[in-house]
Amino acid sequence: MGCCEGKESGLEARFPDEEVDLALLEGVLEKYRGNPSSLITVLQKAQDIYGYLPRKVLYHIAREIRVKPAKVFGVATFYAQFRLRPIGKHLIMVCHGTACHVNGAELITSALCDELKINEGETTKDGLFTLQNVACLGCCSLAPVMMIDGEAYGKLTPDKARSIIREILKKETEKEGV
Ligand code: FES
Repeated sequence: MGCCEGKESGLEARFPDEEVDLALLEGVLEKYRGNPSSLITVLQKAQDIYGYLPRKVLYHIAREIRVKPAKVFGVATFYAQFRLRPIGKHLIMVCHGTACHVNGAELITSALCDELKINEGETTKDGLFTLQNVACLGCCSLAPVMMIDGEAYGKLTPDKARSIIREILKKETEKEGV
């Protein structure tokens, strides 16, 4: 056990301990091993691989690029781009950039929280949806906007946002029924 691994009780809840295959990261580490200044790049690549940043991966990165675990956890927590929990099958990103904000982004997020029975940043129990507020998605003329699985939905109203989610849910249910 590493020197800091016994002191992690406060981190348990925020960084769930999942079974992960550290070997998946080997290709990235080959390039950045022993290079502390590559921390953010390595975290981004790790998130691309695992979909989020599992605790074991964060310790592994700390060891391999020679940065203190506290620094790695600090950076992973500080930047909104990093996810510390697994994401659902469908990632819903609600834009809260300026144009979307003034056009009711808050109402869209709260309608989705209500529809999905989760808070912003959480994943539904069935693992189908993760809801996330993000900065400008780059299609401000369509404000308010959300993006689901890479597809943008604009000129939203709370009801429209709810019905898009229901439509996806319906397709998922149909798939299960096949
Ligand atoms: S502010 Fe929402 S897309 Fe730009």
